[in-house]
Amino acid sequence: MEKIIDIITKEAAKAFSDCGYEEKYGIVSVSNRPDLCEYQCNGAMAAAKTYKKAPIMIANEVVERLKQSRMFSMVEAVMPGFINIKLSLDFLTKYVNEMLHTEHHGCEKAKESKTIMIDYGGPNVAKPLHVGHLRSAIIGESLKRMGRFLGHKVIGDVHLGDWGLQMGLIITELKKRKPELVYFDESYTGEYPTEAPFTISELEEIYPAASAYSKEHPEYKEEAMEATYLLQHGNRGYQALWNHILEISVDDLKKNYKKLNVEFDLWKKESDAQPYIPEMVQYMKDQGYAYVSDGALVVDVKEESDTKEIPPCMILKSDGASLYNTTDLATIVERMKLFHPDEIIYVVDKRQELYFEQVFRCARKTKLVEEDTSLRFLGFGTMNGKDGKPFKTRAGGVMRLEHLIEEINDEMFHKITQNHEVEEEEARATAKIVGLSAIKYGDLSNQASKDYVFDVERFTSFEGNTGPYILYTIVRIKSILNKYKEQGGSVDGLQAVKLEETNESTKALVLEAARFLGVIENAFAELAPHKVCSYIYNLANTFNHFYHETKILGEEDKEKKESYIALLLLTEQILETCIDVLGFEAAERM
Ligand code: ARG
Repeated sequence: MEKIIDIITKEAAKAFSDCGYEEKYGIVSVSNRPDLCEYQCNGAMAAAKTYKKAPIMIANEVVERLKQSRMFSMVEAVMPGFINIKLSLDFLTKYVNEMLHTEHHGCEKAKESKTIMIDYGGPNVAKPLHVGHLRSAIIGESLKRMGRFLGHKVIGDVHLGDWGLQMGLIITELKKRKPELVYFDESYTGEYPTEAPFTISELEEIYPAASAYSKEHPEYKEEAMEATYLLQHGNRGYQALWNHILEISVDDLKKNYKKLNVEFDLWKKESDAQPYIPEMVQYMKDQGYAYVSDGALVVDVKEESDTKEIPPCMILKSDGASLYNTTDLATIVERMKLFHPDEIIYVVDKRQELYFEQVFRCARKTKLVEEDTSLRFLGFGTMNGKDGKPFKTRAGGVMRLEHLIEEINDEMFHKITQNHEVEEEEARATAKIVGLSAIKYGDLSNQASKDYVFDVERFTSFEGNTGPYILYTIVRIKSILNKYKEQGGSVDGLQAVKLEETNESTKALVLEAARFLGVIENAFAELAPHKVCSYIYNLANTFNHFYHETKILGEEDKEKKESYIALLLLTEQILETCIDVLGFEAAERM
């Protein structure tokens, strides 16, 4: 279906042209003075300059023309030349009825379906998943769902960090603790055990211990670097250990992401890009892109228009070792080869912005990507605690994701059982669903690039701009619809046929529902899930206002009652569609 704003713009453009002005002046926008009108057109002011006429004169002419259209209940020109518009309820009602009976509520698929890869999650093997990786997972998952809703082929890749020094540290620490393990016996040529010599909890204790120890002991760090080198250059025993580490970590990560309702199509790792490195490096040298500077191999990426210094992109360290950059570039090579994406979106901490700028420029300059493949970086801010510092546990340590989820779920459980009597089991299940909405909405409702304060109390509240409030609204509508069905009503093929123009809260709800088209499209184009949140927050508020003003099930006029129910149905479906693209779902009851 055509978006409502486009329909009005077309009408206004035609009115301008009928009055002898260029159509381009007919652009309409949502009113920034909702107390005065619903939509507005400021084109007369711009046209005034071209046609050397007073803006109000032009506005008046256009308004006279627009008044002939049945689409509007009010059109007026106000000084100095604004055109204020209100839509007629009749027109809007027809529009929302069509939405109700059209697939995706009339949202059209993208004109051209693209292959889009999203690089998100980005956890590091053998390190516990913590809140730092939470944002990437939540935002990335939502972008993936939006892209799919719009008909794109979206491939989500977790891009595990599995290739750095952390691996060497773990191996070194293991060797210190259990030197007798067969993995450290250089003369061993047999098969290695299939069972790992450690559990996930041991693994998670080993890494921080090794990391802390290496900071105090240079010779230990040296050993870890050596182990990393050996691992990367084919040491059998170390590779077998690394496989164990990977397997155990990935199992654990999958469990955690599942709790977050986050899924990846690909579980690729930094190490998967290794085979592409030698050829890529050779190519960069052969083409004259890469040169040696202070022993390291680099590619210049600065541009004339730069206002700040952009350092060269380092491809190989002076000892020939590859870096984070090298892996990311080789991953681009791999992605181009295997999937040929039109777009790759990276959802990573915004502190890595300069780094990605270098990588993107390097990939473009060296033509690792085709000209029309776009590389986009969505950098997110830090999740802070109430003290304004990066979120920590009460004891001051790094908060593990599973503990954070538990904390929220407990808080939700508490609130749910406080409100009314429910069976423990049911309340626990509901708390999980609502808890997830609290975490995800709490994150997504902020502009991604901004830091935000993770406030358990506020996020779990049933009031205000929160996930639980949205779910509560959905549950409220569902319960009315259920009662309506219990009373023998059917929602099949329902249409709104009788609504009253003068009823301000009804009109507001119809108007807000009609604005749904384009919401997900815009949010996706700008990589801005918070726009979906702010839309549903408005819609939920508008609905609740309507609900308090209107007798719905008690309405005696059958046509009127059915019209309300149709409106409820549409509102509920829009809300559910939106929370689905945000990555959470509603409970049946709360
Ligand atoms: N593992 C990295 C980290 O924890 C994030 C990876 C982001 N993605 C990428 N392609 N570099 O910081």
